[in-house]
Amino acid sequence: MNTQTFSAGLEGVVACRTRLSHVDGAAGKLVLAGHNAVVLAENNTIEEVWFLLHEGHLPDASELAAFKDKIETLGRLPADEVNLIKKLRGIEPLSAFRTALSAIANKRGYQPWLNRPKREAVEEILALCALAPSIVEVLHTGRRPRLKNGNAGYAERYLWGVTGSKPSVENVRAVETYLILTMDHGLNASTFASRVTASTGADVGAAITSGIGTLSGPLHGGAPGPVLDMLDAIGSNDKADAWVRAQLAAGVRLMGFGHRIYRTDDPRAITLKRVAERQNGPRIELAKVTEQAALAVLTEKQNLRAAAEGKAVRPLRVNVEFWTAVVLEHVGIPRELFSSTFCASRIIGWGEHVAEQIADNKLFRPLSLYTGEMPAE
Ligand SMILES: CC(C)(COP(=O)(O)OP(=O)(O)OC[C@H]1O[C@@H](n2cnc3c(N)ncnc32)[C@H](O)[C@@H]1OP(=O)(O)O)[C@@H](O)C(=O)NCCC(=O)NCCS
Repeated sequence: MNTQTFSAGLEGVVACRTRLSHVDGAAGKLVLAGHNAVVLAENNTIEEVWFLLHEGHLPDASELAAFKDKIETLGRLPADEVNLIKKLRGIEPLSAFRTALSAIANKRGYQPWLNRPKREAVEEILALCALAPSIVEVLHTGRRPRLKNGNAGYAERYLWGVTGSKPSVENVRAVETYLILTMDHGLNASTFASRVTASTGADVGAAITSGIGTLSGPLHGGAPGPVLDMLDAIGSNDKADAWVRAQLAAGVRLMGFGHRIYRTDDPRAITLKRVAERQNGPRIELAKVTEQAALAVLTEKQNLRAAAEGKAVRPLRVNVEFWTAVVLEHVGIPRELFSSTFCASRIIGWGEHVAEQIADNKLFRPLSLYTGEMPAE
């Protein structure tokens, strides 16, 4: 009889050490390498925060210029890779992104990192992650990425590539805030998947591809598109309460609500709600009314549950994906690219976690609790 402790979904299990990020679910705080993520998202660029994760400190002006230049250069796709990506058009965008990244790593000859200088693997990680805006642009437009004049950074290149024209400063800032807030988030499912694959000594392309596959699920990164579908289905403010009640009565989960770690408001959701309020787009009123209706009904549901079970149950609050949907729609990103946009952010976190795993590796090999029959002696 196996008497080891079993925790469904590894809830509460500490599976690695990291200096990259910390989610304080009770206080509703996200820390990125020693800094408050909300402060970073409101004041810094992606390249600054990426450098912070990579090097452990924020860059000075010359470090930033060199890093920005490096990411921009690594982000250019050679013609043969553009052609390879074009062949993947027409399939679901995040699946195409995953397949493109995997194929590029293989085409470049990336090998298992084990028994090779670790710095080579770290350079391969940066090279792959920097490609995200260009991969999404080719998949979306079917042509090679256009040159973006004016020293565009990662966020501007991404939005420019998707919308086809130079975006406004406000829209770049909105996307940049989002991309920083979602860049890394403790040992979430996709980051764990990337680290598990890296722990086997596999090539870094395989490790990052594992992250993309894991992100695709609606319980993780796939919720913002369905959030817009939900707002479409509700249609007007007066229908929100009845719609939400009907969904919950039918046992359907409300996308954009609930979180494994946060016991209070998700700080990323609060920040993105502020961005959405500043945007003041046509969705904002319906989104606010829907959020309030959902929170009220989810609280009622949890209170009933607590009374029935005679113990406190986890509150269900709004999560990052609800306000992400409103913000990304306003800047002109089509909903079928929401998961790819999340991927263009979280890929940076996966890359840094893979590098961290490689630097101090131990093969992940947990135990399972056998529930089958034992053979007769
Ligand atoms: C994010 C999420 C997967 C976290 O879930 P978790 O920690 O594994 O918690 P569980 O899935 O065990 O849910 C606990 C209970 O709360 C309920 N619950 C959780 N989120 C809910 C939601 N969004 N709507 C309705 N009920 C919800 C579950 O139905 C479950 O009740 P049950 O035991 O009666 O089935 C979950 O909240 C969810 O599915 N949210 C919707 C998808 C989403 O927004 N994903 C993006 C996350 S950033």
